[in-house]
Amino acid sequence: GWNMENILDEEIKVINDTVGPEEHVICALSGGVDSTVAATLVHKAIGDRLHCVFVDNGLLRYKERERVMETFESDLHLPVTCVDASNEFLDKLKGVVDPEMKRKIIGKEFISIFDAFAHELEKKLGRKPAYLVQGTLYPDVIESCPPPGSGKTCSHTIKSHHNVGGLPKDMKLKLIEPLKLLFKDEVRQLGRILNVPDAFLKRHPFPGPGLAVRVLGDVTEGNALDILRQVDEIFIQAIKDAGLYDSIWQAFAVFLPIRSVGVQGDQRTHSHVVALRAVTSQDGMTADWYYFEHKFLDDVARKICNSVRGVNRVVQDITSKPPSTIEWE
Ligand code: XMP
Repeated sequence: GWNMENILDEEIKVINDTVGPEEHVICALSGGVDSTVAATLVHKAIGDRLHCVFVDNGLLRYKERERVMETFESDLHLPVTCVDASNEFLDKLKGVVDPEMKRKIIGKEFISIFDAFAHELEKKLGRKPAYLVQGTLYPDVIESCPPPGSGKTCSHTIKSHHNVGGLPKDMKLKLIEPLKLLFKDEVRQLGRILNVPDAFLKRHPFPGPGLAVRVLGDVTEGNALDILRQVDEIFIQAIKDAGLYDSIWQAFAVFLPIRSVGVQGDQRTHSHVVALRAVTSQDGMTADWYYFEHKFLDDVARKICNSVRGVNRVVQDITSKPPSTIEWE
């Protein structure tokens, strides 16, 4: 029957029948639910012939690298190599303001880092890894590949999502996509059976290009990324403390590339403005902005201005999707 325990057993059997006893498999972990559940499942099937990589692109949230690595290693016992490529990514992003250009640069850099990881591994193992795990879900399958001649277009024409596709070219890796018949809620159920921590399964979606699309303009300018991380952490922590996290689809802060005048202590300041965004949604295709109580917003805004140096103004985004998108870039 179609229950998650059966699906898990089925998948493990399929993976074991597919991957030969001497063959190795690689996987890029993003810190998201899908790649984590896919990797955990494959690990259960083939053990340490799975080799995962987590890339720190310098665009992660506050302590995110430490937090996800802790989950991968301590909770899930996944064999993961953490590659710190923040300098490479940020160098390439210097001076870039166009959002699509940012996405392309990040996608391309990611492939090059992943490619290097795969070649390193090949040297170490003395053979090429044969398979690549991807956390592709059923909706990705239908959305990203409209049948030829159907007249339908890809649903991601406004923004290029680079989750699907983009593999190291000369590696000739075959794909393992253990989640490709499942919807998101089924992936979460599967994750629960595999002991992926609940806090992890319930994490809000986070875009592949990370904070690059939440710092408007040049992400390398001043300490924009650092300011954004602090503001975002205060906002998210307040949402969790208020017990609201699970009722919100996505919440985050945005760094605006403008300054405004303020008065802090007895000094006039000319500092940064940050925006808070929170939405409810079913699938991210449409979304409604979230109503916080005034007291909540007041507390958060005060806390941000009092504790994040360089910020003197907080605004809230009160547009839904459409007409806005969820992200600002
Ligand atoms: P938008 O901003 O288009 O976002 O309303 C819809 C959902 O997609 C996420 N998003 C991305 N995810 N790569 C990703 O992996 C991207 O380039 C990207 N752009 C947007 C966004 O966070 C929201 O959940």
